[in-house]
Amino acid sequence: MIEEKLKELKEYIKDIYKTMGALEIIYWDMQTKMPRKAIEQRSEIIEHLSGEIFKMTTSDKMGELLKFFDENVEGLNEIDKAIIKNARKEYDETKKIPEDRYRKFVVAQALSESAWEEAKEKKDFEIFKPHLKKIIDFQKEFIDYLGYKDNKYDTLLNKYEEGLTVKKLDKVFGELKEGIINILNKIDASGKVVDKSFLLGEFNKESQEKLSKFILNKMGYDFEAGRLDESMHPFTTSFGNRDVRITTNYNVPDFTSALFSCIHEGGHGIYDQDIPDEFQKTGLDTSLSMSIHESQSRFYENIIGRSKEFWEYFLPFAKYEFKQFKDISLNEFYEAINCVKPSLIRTESDELTYSLHIIIRYEIEKALINGSLDVDNVKEEWNRKYKEYLGVEPSNDSEGILQDIHWSDGSFGYFPSYALGNLYGAQMLEVMKKDYKDMYSDITNGNLSGIHNWLNENIHKYASLYSPSEIILKVSGEELNSKYFIDYLEKKYFEIYK
Ligand code: CO
Repeated sequence: MIEEKLKELKEYIKDIYKTMGALEIIYWDMQTKMPRKAIEQRSEIIEHLSGEIFKMTTSDKMGELLKFFDENVEGLNEIDKAIIKNARKEYDETKKIPEDRYRKFVVAQALSESAWEEAKEKKDFEIFKPHLKKIIDFQKEFIDYLGYKDNKYDTLLNKYEEGLTVKKLDKVFGELKEGIINILNKIDASGKVVDKSFLLGEFNKESQEKLSKFILNKMGYDFEAGRLDESMHPFTTSFGNRDVRITTNYNVPDFTSALFSCIHEGGHGIYDQDIPDEFQKTGLDTSLSMSIHESQSRFYENIIGRSKEFWEYFLPFAKYEFKQFKDISLNEFYEAINCVKPSLIRTESDELTYSLHIIIRYEIEKALINGSLDVDNVKEEWNRKYKEYLGVEPSNDSEGILQDIHWSDGSFGYFPSYALGNLYGAQMLEVMKKDYKDMYSDITNGNLSGIHNWLNENIHKYASLYSPSEIILKVSGEELNSKYFIDYLEKKYFEIYK
């Protein structure tokens, strides 16, 4: 009986995730290939499929199956228990939201994304503003359905990391901000100026693509189970472990922009390609939290991709593609890609000031959701915070408030996971260095498979079986500790800036 019911439940869940897979392909197409005029017709398809998923997730059949397992979980293995727990959570949460409101939100989301693209292109926040208002109203409405304890924003944080609260984040981000500002002040006092002018110029797209693909291959990203395309905002999407796609945005005048975004998305991609078959279409086939996912992409992008050892191997290949690097030494190159300069664009910022971009977004989101900040004033608040924290002011909306896609699709509560990813990654590095003594000499030889294996063994293969706090405890023997990341930054930047 239990066997049969379990099979029935898993088949049913699989059907839901198959439909979701179809929807994901449609979203991927929307961001990479779709002609702009198609948006209204496309949103009808999205609405229909989302509605189907909604119905299945909250159906009577699902309710009955889950009820059966409320009383019959004894003897099930760890994975089956996790699958049921996840389906139960989806069922309970989705049930609280009225279907027609959800469908309306999905349509608003698609239109808003498209308006954001247009607004960004035209550098005009006014085009996007009414959509942003709508999206935020939906967030507030959904929080009312779902409920909250201390802070409304907690409900949104929990979408990306279970158990995360404003209280916890205020503490972690407070420590992080203090640590970063302390390093920034010392860099300022050092008076050292790093030249990174040679990273700007003309870098043709074909060569950028060639170099990026070469590095992705070395990292272990499997092009037979993935592909690299172009989109306005780089992203990774998975339709199963044998079809994990990444995108980038080539910027001809800037060498680093597409390159580091490829390494970043490659880190996400490898993770999803590594998820074992047994987790596919179960609801557990990605990491349980976005910050653990981000820890992998940022690990590759910064800890590996901005290390001297990495470029000891890859610089000759970059020199082969781009003549302007001919006389640049490894040390000059290494310092240039790690040059600290407070700037406007999050995705192009240095590793040190990056987290300040996140803290700004976190503070603004919190205020928008709790009602202490209005969409009408959000642009001014954005510009004010950039001036205060980073000392820079956007000259247009595109390099200011319109730079990120996240608010257009309603991903409020997502940004903090980027900064947390940095913290998780640095903590993992400490353990990896102990476990894997030849790590840095292997990187120097262009051999990145040891890193991939370690991450697979310790993180990827568990998919979302464990929560972020469980996985970091399992890996490092302690809870998340911002000390490791701050130590890592100090060591790196005090060496560069003496
Ligand atoms: Co990412």
